Amino acid sequence: MGEGKLKRVPYHVGIIMDGNGRWARRRGLPRLMGHRAGVENIRRVLEGCVEYGVKILTIYAFSTENWARPVEEVEGLMQLLSEAIQQQIDELHRNGVQLRHIGRLAGIEPALQEQVRAAIELTKHNDRIILNVAFNYGGRAEILDAVRRLIADGIKPEALTEELFSRYLYTSGLPDPDLIIRTGGEYRLSNFLLWQAAYAEYYATPTYWPDFDKEELRKALEDYARRERRFGRVLNA
Ligand code: IPE
Ligand code: IPE
Ligand code: MG
Repeated sequence: MGEGKLKRVPYHVGIIMDGNGRWARRRGLPRLMGHRAGVENIRRVLEGCVEYGVKILTIYAFSTENWARPVEEVEGLMQLLSEAIQQQIDELHRNGVQLRHIGRLAGIEPALQEQVRAAIELTKHNDRIILNVAFNYGGRAEILDAVRRLIADGIKPEALTEELFSRYLYTSGLPDPDLIIRTGGEYRLSNFLLWQAAYAEYYATPTYWPDFDKEELRKALEDYARRERRFGRVLNA
């Protein structure tokens, strides 16, 4: 791992974990093996985040658009989530990880929904780090869900503020991401945290997700530490 303490660490990091399929293809393996390697990598990066002092890690694991993939791949990804919860929840719990989910649980197979709910319940008092899993998540769906609930609650137009609106999002109660990392070389958000990313710093790397290790994480955090966040203001004026 790199040396020295980082001068500023993002409180909330979001990761668009892209490149599993290409990682597998480069090795002549089926795409699902790439996803498997990708799931394995979450553990490493989570550990790195704890070491560096990140308090919230939001990972993009399955988008509302990913349903359009071949059915075997979709089923494989569901199966992987289920296995990952089964195999890792005890260790996560022991390590003080609070698991959360953002996205639509409805639409996922009932048994898997139940597994997710139970894992969230088990870890809800842990406070070392929050691992927030975006699964069946879409930024636009999130905004629509928020608007539907606002209307259902009878919120008056003049009462609506950005602060109130934020409380209707899946991320209610969590601060916005400070840094969004995208692996796999693309430069786009792909419907990730559209509202919350308004002032996030963005970092993209060509490294495929299964190869994104602690050293790569450190590079992203070092890059972040050098950024000047202005939030629209003029600094040192
Ligand atoms: C990201 O890897 C994981 C998911 C979207 C579920 P991809 O499966 O998109 O990998 P590439 O982009 O095809 O390499
Ligand atoms: C973004 O990756 C979604 C996840 C990482 C879960 P995609 O591979 O689905 O995004 P596009 O299709 O390249 O925009
Ligand atoms: Mg991709």
